[in-house]
Amino acid sequence: LIRGPVLGLEASCDETATALLAPDGTILAEAVRSQLAEHTPYGGVVPEIAARAHLAHLPALADQVMREAGIGPADLGGIAATAGPGLIGGLIVGATFGKGMAIAHNLPFVAVNHLEGHALTARLPGLVEGGVDFPYLLLLLSGGHCQCVAVEGLGRYRRLGSTLDDAVGEAFDKSAKLMGLPWPGGPALEKLAASGDPTRFHLPRPMLGRPGCDFSFSGLKTAVAQSIPKLATDQDRADLAAAFQRVVAAVLADRARNALGMLPGATAMVVAGGVAANQSVRAALAAEASRAGLPLIAPPIRLCTDNAVMIAWAGIERLRAGWTDPLDHAPRPRWPL
Ligand code: KG4
Ligand code: ZN
Repeated sequence: LIRGPVLGLEASCDETATALLAPDGTILAEAVRSQLAEHTPYGGVVPEIAARAHLAHLPALADQVMREAGIGPADLGGIAATAGPGLIGGLIVGATFGKGMAIAHNLPFVAVNHLEGHALTARLPGLVEGGVDFPYLLLLLSGGHCQCVAVEGLGRYRRLGSTLDDAVGEAFDKSAKLMGLPWPGGPALEKLAASGDPTRFHLPRPMLGRPGCDFSFSGLKTAVAQSIPKLATDQDRADLAAAFQRVVAAVLADRARNALGMLPGATAMVVAGGVAANQSVRAALAAEASRAGLPLIAPPIRLCTDNAVMIAWAGIERLRAGWTDPLDHAPRPRWPL
């Protein structure tokens, strides 16, 4: 039994986030502070800057969600903090802050695997009518992670495939940079692609048609790099962006089809991660899911990208199962599901 709202804390990468969820999973309050402005001058996330920014902002964001919900720390039923995988500085900030609150207010502490947070988001009450039952296929498509996961139960995850080189978001970001777009490149590339002709440039479609559901994007990035000298006009750039996006969507759909084949009895295809914001990617995956007679579940974007709602929710699922973690639990920069 969980005796009060659960506070979720997320500081594993470049979003500082907090959320407060009622024991039944109702979202009472949520807050996210992006560090985009701090990292943009460097064209990527700088770990030391990230850790310091988490340290500077996490306490205020925790106060903010409790204030919005009209409760104090003594009313909480537990603390759930991301303890890995991610950048170690931020993980230490988030986990240590959470442990401090747990000690001060005698609360159960849950060390949440960030990937488990993404994996369980689809089960948040109210997201899908009737809920999502195990097992389901999770496609985790972000800047740091790119994998197909069989979600078979709470704490029961089987990685079916992952990337051999770059994550798909990384491929978007690197290709966008080559096209002269600002970081993070995914959204900018999608916008540019909207006015492009995807048939003009012929790019390789890595892994397409191969068995299994691993990914590879470095060859595609190289092909984009080789096409850059041929670009003269804005239309050329848009055409290359459109070709790139089409290839990525096709490859993801192909991999998703094989992954579904590896998980008989799947109840749904679920996407998470920033790349799930891409409309072409969503459309390609939706078509694949419907071909298999399954729904595609794509949480709202704010719950697809890094957030603390998913961490609090994973904490609630674990607390319900009676699982807590000791206060000497060590954050882990690498922590496969
Ligand atoms: O999940 P996320 O916010 O953070 C982590 O990487 O953990 O994902 C960010 C990634 C970036 O690589 C970004 O370029 C990509 O998601 N992204 C997109 C779009 N929006 C974000 N990629 C393609 N199309 C988009 N609309
Ligand atoms: Zn993430």
